[in-house]
Amino acid sequence: MFKYLFAKNEDIPTGSAAIYFGFSSIIWFVIGTGLGSFNAAKLGFPDFVTGSFVFAFGHMRQVHVMAVIFGWISMAFAMAMMYITPIIGNTKLWSEKLGLWNCFLWNVGLTLALTLMWTFGIESGREYSDFPWPIDLYIVFFILFPLALNVWMTIKNRRTQGIYTTNWFFAAATFMVAIVFLVGNSPEFFHLTGLTEAYLTWWFAHNVLGLWITPVAAAIAYYTIPKVTGNPLYSHRIGHLHFWSVVVFYSTPAAHHLMSAPLPEWLKSFASVEGVLILVPAIAFVSNILLTMQGKWHMFVENLEIKFTVTGVLMAIPLNMQGGFQQTRAINWYIHGTGWIVAHAHLALLGFSTFMEVAAVYLGMQTLMRRKLYSIALGNFHYWMLLIGFSTYWISMTIAGLIQGAGKIYEVPYIDVVVAEHPYMIARWIGGTMVFTGNIVWLYNMWMTARAGTVIPAGRQPHELAYER
Ligand code: HEM
Repeated sequence: MFKYLFAKNEDIPTGSAAIYFGFSSIIWFVIGTGLGSFNAAKLGFPDFVTGSFVFAFGHMRQVHVMAVIFGWISMAFAMAMMYITPIIGNTKLWSEKLGLWNCFLWNVGLTLALTLMWTFGIESGREYSDFPWPIDLYIVFFILFPLALNVWMTIKNRRTQGIYTTNWFFAAATFMVAIVFLVGNSPEFFHLTGLTEAYLTWWFAHNVLGLWITPVAAAIAYYTIPKVTGNPLYSHRIGHLHFWSVVVFYSTPAAHHLMSAPLPEWLKSFASVEGVLILVPAIAFVSNILLTMQGKWHMFVENLEIKFTVTGVLMAIPLNMQGGFQQTRAINWYIHGTGWIVAHAHLALLGFSTFMEVAAVYLGMQTLMRRKLYSIALGNFHYWMLLIGFSTYWISMTIAGLIQGAGKIYEVPYIDVVVAEHPYMIARWIGGTMVFTGNIVWLYNMWMTARAGTVIPAGRQPHELAYER
């Protein structure tokens, strides 16, 4: 990378920025899930690595959360945007050089921020927006804005008539996430406290998921499925309905994260209704993608990228069903603050979103490096480690959450709840460690693809070759 940072843009090979973002995202996925596995071990085996504040669970939990959200997920998004936006517009990325600097400053900034947080405890104390405001501003101006500029200018320079659904989402999400960062972190800029701070903290957390992670993950599937199956998208109109209903219904119900807080009851009722209406974009997205698969379902078994993407899409069904009913007063008072919520967060991030990003990184890296995947067997091993590992995580934490909820409601002594949920804490650690292990194998497989993968002849696509075996 360093040799290209100071090169002329025209001397930088096409796709370089996306390739570096691809490898960075996989490395952060390994680091982030490794931290997750370590944290889970702390909850499964309380005597594991004690005696130093640096390895205390309360100290490391947010390092995990920020590493996987702003390392793995968001860098995989940057890779997908720099790979897909130019292809759809039948043009080149506006600036490979800006893309490379974006990648470099992103890695440096995130490493610095997490090191300050991990070793010195420098953080805001606000969940999901744990970085202190100077880091938030660094993220907006050196990470999000350069990314948005590169995406917008590439779309502006497109050599196609209209703008395809995926690029609609990419352009909007890069704009919306910057707004979310500036408004969501305003409590730190303006020293807002009390309920206002609590509400904006969860408005930030909710909208990082609702206006960044959910739309961009969906946008990737709108490209991967038609590209690999060869089927046109089932309906652009449903795509537009999905787009606008995400913006309207997803951006507003942040109060559903605070149903037990002393917020005005009308705000909670409004959030609950909006929270149920999130089913509109969810149904639009899932039906549009599954109908695009018509006649190509054999690829769900045979093709790695389709397998990952469709699995992620199918996870949107339990995710939004859960999301819809768990935020109503009737259910929320039981599951709030329990492992059920942790399970739900991982269904959204490690399930729904991650499976679609993994597919985009597999497809994008092979296409841009012009090399066929080194080992399909290792690719399938990765798929099953992620799916079985995640499922074990989700089921065990959902059960632990129900036990904790019952313990809370029926005032069962705390230690009895801890004992009852202990086997599920161990199961979660096993499941999460399978995910971590699968990611190490993935990193090896992609590294070997770059070094020794079969060269893809001009005019051919990796998924065609993979399909031919
Ligand atoms: C894409 C991958 C992942 C993402 C995006 C992710 C994200 C998150 C988020 C957002 C939370 C906070 C949940 C909440 O408070 O509601 C969390 C907590 C946690 N995650 Fe992950 N995670 C990922 C993978 C993993 C893996 C593989 C493990 C391994 C076991 C893991 C272990 C944990 C643990 C132990 C917690 C703390 C839960 C608690 O406070 O009780 N995560 N993660």
